[in-house]
Amino acid sequence: SKYVKGVQYLVENGVKQIPDVYIQPPHQLVNLTKFVRSNEIPVIDLAGLNDDSRSGVLAGIKNACDRWGFFQVINHGVPVRVVEQMMDVARRFHELPTEEKMVHYSAYPSEPHRFQTIFNLEKQTVLEWRDNLEQKCYPPPEDDNWLKNPIGYRDAAMDYSREVRKLAKVLLAAMSEGLNLSSDALEKCLGDEFTQIFLINYYPPCPNPELVLGVNSHSDRGALTVLLQDEIRGLEVFNEGNWFEVKPLANAFVINVGDETEVLSNGIYKSVAHRAIRKIGDVARITIASFCNPTLEAKIGPIAELTEVNPPLYKEHHFSDMVRYVRSRYYDGKSGLDNFKL
Ligand code: SIN
Ligand code: FE2
Repeated sequence: SKYVKGVQYLVENGVKQIPDVYIQPPHQLVNLTKFVRSNEIPVIDLAGLNDDSRSGVLAGIKNACDRWGFFQVINHGVPVRVVEQMMDVARRFHELPTEEKMVHYSAYPSEPHRFQTIFNLEKQTVLEWRDNLEQKCYPPPEDDNWLKNPIGYRDAAMDYSREVRKLAKVLLAAMSEGLNLSSDALEKCLGDEFTQIFLINYYPPCPNPELVLGVNSHSDRGALTVLLQDEIRGLEVFNEGNWFEVKPLANAFVINVGDETEVLSNGIYKSVAHRAIRKIGDVARITIASFCNPTLEAKIGPIAELTEVNPPLYKEHHFSDMVRYVRSRYYDGKSGLDNFKL
């Protein structure tokens, strides 16, 4: 594709009218004008996990995972400085000259890190208004497999991934307790040590914002996603026929349930469709999505205790089957879960 250099490249070259390949089809454009509601996604104060409001916090997380599949967390324990340093290298990467980013360009998901501009080069016919950098961060990569450019990237990314991992473990424990299971139940199902990847998304301002999507509607295939969004709106979550905006909140993370947690919880926790629009503002929007995934060999099926009353809703499979299925499809926003329903 002649668009592999990404959207920031177009913007830097003063694009006035976006190329047709970025224009969403009519049914999506209609969908994009739908009324969006805000301020309803739960915000959970994790400080309460350590005092006598603990049971209330656990109930709040459980309800959010059941009803929304999404919530925001504050007082999450990740130091502000670590977040700021990560955001800083994230921005500096995407603002590098295009040739320097293209050194890391790859269409192959097996790379330890890669600059990615088209989600599915073979199958995608409508492109999204987003560039991203994908980095595998757990198991920790060899030294050479962190970027050297921009300066400071490796230290910032290592610190950030370590802190996000701690938070993910706290959340998986709380979510396990919400299912009346022991606190290590969910994490144990993800294999010896769950894997971790982050995606630094960069959505530059768009000259025809009403015609594009930053990310098409999709659900996340893994166990849990920890998303850092900057102050620019864009993330929307689908719930009972409406799109709901996830309002940017200072010093917060957006947490969402992935497909495999829906399977493990036998459908109690929901992995829901979400998308990113690119309507607002004349500066770039940056988000960092950290995916906590089962190991490829992990066997994923409804946890036995949860199938005693309700029959299992999903087929047992290896996480590698989920990955293969999601990658084999045209990127049409459908959930990978469809393939594993009983
Ligand atoms: C994603 O879910 O893939 C990204 C969401 C965002 O950037 O807001
Ligand atoms: Fe996502």
